[in-house]
Amino acid sequence: MSRICYVNGRFVKEENAKVSIFDRGFLFADGVYEVTAVVGGRLVDYEPHIDRLYRSMGELKLTLPMSRGQLKRVHLALIGKNALDEGGIYLEVTRGAADRDFAFPDASTKSTVVLFTQARSLVFNADGESGIKVITVPDIRWQRRDIKSVALLAQVLAKQAAREAGAKEAWMHENGVVTEGGSSNAYIVTQDGRILTRPLSNAILPGITRSSLIRVAAEKGLRIEERPFTLAEAFVAAEAFNTAASSFVMPVIAIDGKPVGNGKPGPVTTRLRQIYLDEVVKGAG
Ligand code: PDD
Repeated sequence: MSRICYVNGRFVKEENAKVSIFDRGFLFADGVYEVTAVVGGRLVDYEPHIDRLYRSMGELKLTLPMSRGQLKRVHLALIGKNALDEGGIYLEVTRGAADRDFAFPDASTKSTVVLFTQARSLVFNADGESGIKVITVPDIRWQRRDIKSVALLAQVLAKQAAREAGAKEAWMHENGVVTEGGSSNAYIVTQDGRILTRPLSNAILPGITRSSLIRVAAEKGLRIEERPFTLAEAFVAAEAFNTAASSFVMPVIAIDGKPVGNGKPGPVTTRLRQIYLDEVVKGAG
């Protein structure tokens, strides 16, 4: 079935979903994006994702040529038109199409807004049960990783290297300190049971799944400590996992070919995945 996508005010079949070759997203990666999970036809953590979108746009002086209410209606319409039960909605806003010139185009240039759906199993997910392997790579990205920019070449290379190594994610690091995954936030559980993830700063994306997980875990008496951890700590961790809207809580069972713990998803990770599914995903709407 051909998807129905949204392009600049219109719902069109995917084969007709096109933007200009002069679009600044294409020419300069001059745009931002969001990925919001959908489960049971309902949006998961929609408002925080859109808050982050507005923040990313604000940091880059991008504007949205529609209201927040209209944007929500487009999300809901796409779920309906595509009968999307489980997966995600990808949203991208760029600085629009204008003749190639680095500085911003004049104010009459309207931002480009596109959205499309991707069906994917999130709750009953084979990787979520078995866990995934990750590799580690130096973090070669720019210094504003808090902005959800579409400039993702470093992540493309990192995740391709992971695929070539038989792994599904790459953990990026700076001088041996883990920043985050290619498209996820990274965590370890130490041998003495502490759950660690890097604090927010310009060095990582403020993950929406991360922030919800920290909240619901605390409500269940599990404290996630926000402090940086090193690759050396990760190699001797009892457990490891990632979070993202595209995978929720994803166990990591090997790092650079070395098993984490006993090489199977650990009890803390499994509990956190369940808490997230019960407390955040079930309450979606
Ligand atoms: N990526 N860090 C990076 C670099 C990411 O790209 C993502 C998400 C996350 C997790 O953020 P959230 O929990 O809000 O999804 C962290 C999306 C899913 C993607 O690029 O497909």
